[in-house]
Amino acid sequence: MIKRFYIETYGCQMNEYDSELLAGILMDKGYESAPSPEEADIILLNTCSVREHAEQKIHSRLGELKYLKDKDPARKLGVVGCMAQNLKEGLLESKPYVDLILGPDSYRNILEHLDSTDAHTIDTKLSKFEVYDGLFPARKEGINAWISIMRGCNKFCSYCIVPYTRGRERSRSIESIVNEAKRSVNLGFVEITLLGQNVNSYDHEGKRFPELLIALTNVQGIRRIRYTSPHPQDVDEELMKVHADYKPLIANHIHLPLQSGSDAVLKAMNRTYTQSHYLKLVDMIRKYLPDMGITTDIIVGFPGETEADFRETLHVMNSVRYDSAFTFKYSPRPYTKAWDMEDKVSESEKSLRLTELIRLQKKHTLENYRNLIGKEVEILVEAPSKRDPNEMKGRTACNKITVFPAGAYQAKDLVKRTITDAQGITLFSRP
Ligand code: SAH
Ligand code: SF4
Ligand code: F3S
Repeated sequence: MIKRFYIETYGCQMNEYDSELLAGILMDKGYESAPSPEEADIILLNTCSVREHAEQKIHSRLGELKYLKDKDPARKLGVVGCMAQNLKEGLLESKPYVDLILGPDSYRNILEHLDSTDAHTIDTKLSKFEVYDGLFPARKEGINAWISIMRGCNKFCSYCIVPYTRGRERSRSIESIVNEAKRSVNLGFVEITLLGQNVNSYDHEGKRFPELLIALTNVQGIRRIRYTSPHPQDVDEELMKVHADYKPLIANHIHLPLQSGSDAVLKAMNRTYTQSHYLKLVDMIRKYLPDMGITTDIIVGFPGETEADFRETLHVMNSVRYDSAFTFKYSPRPYTKAWDMEDKVSESEKSLRLTELIRLQKKHTLENYRNLIGKEVEILVEAPSKRDPNEMKGRTACNKITVFPAGAYQAKDLVKRTITDAQGITLFSRP
């Protein structure tokens, strides 16, 4: 009998990619994808541990799925990804009905584990080498193909669990990445997004990220190249020159996580740059690419963050004027250096700071979007808009969503349009 699997993905794009990788491994061996957990013989949750809330969500989802295990004990329930790596067998204390616990470097072993007759299988060995070369992910149809180019993180920011759940940095060869890009194009994808916890720390036998980007610009059929997330430490002039030379094929968008604007907090976070270093970097980026869309990640309420420190973050936001920002309340994570730090910021203070930050960002987002009115932009057409089937939606190179009358446009077209209006985070345009 053909076995069916269902994968639910939480967390970052690396997990999206890994879920496609797992689907690829399973489909290669004849498993089929099921439309719902109820119809699946194998249910996998690909999980995230980055904040406590992310783990709580998985705990409650597992609680919800328990009835399916009760109904059919032969069905396998697996937890994979970062939370599996973080909790290991500890997960069984509260969820003894979970069959399979697989860390992010153990996916090649999944078939063998699914065949196992043991009550539980726990495989959370991290590898220095695993980059899943030679496997091809079963991608969801669409415009964009995620391509993982490096895995792991060596930065050890003091708040972050990722180095513990993903292990050390390692990169794939340019050749293998280019091959995956070519295969994706042959399957109809027109955009690729390169992924890594520190995507621009890419280093394969001395070949660095700018060299990889150039190699990918030669792949016929790719209309847009994106990447995420770069670390400010490894953003340099060479990278910006490549952006400028291969514009607009390499999209003019950079996600540049700030985390905090205060030098004291940045130091305690082990972020390796100061406010002035960061602002100089932004100037350099804009020197090469005045239209670069810049987005960021910010944490409020890191231990010891004073009101004055927080004002420094607002100051950087006011100087850079980000297009958008992912904003988070600091969440203490086990194993990390910050876990034991004193001088915790109260929940209510964190909430106040977060609210202020979100309000400022909304203002900047709208201003930046309004500044585009009257400008001609290149849009990659994606799909009919959900709101109105007579409209299409697409994305500008700086990653902003635009809607317009469907007309003769088809998904995957690259079209030039002039922005006419901005509302919330949506742009409107005319030919
Ligand atoms: N590698 C990426 C980010 C990975 S985690 C990078 O360095 O940019 C994504 C974001 O989650 C981080 O940028 C950070 O803003 C946030 N984050 C990580 N750990 C956190 C924690 N303990 N509490 C709150 N936010 C956190
Ligand atoms: Fe976490 Fe810092 Fe590594 Fe990003 S660079 S994954 S924030 S430790
Ligand atoms: Fe979460 Fe792991 Fe990504 S902790 S953010 S899924 S690398």
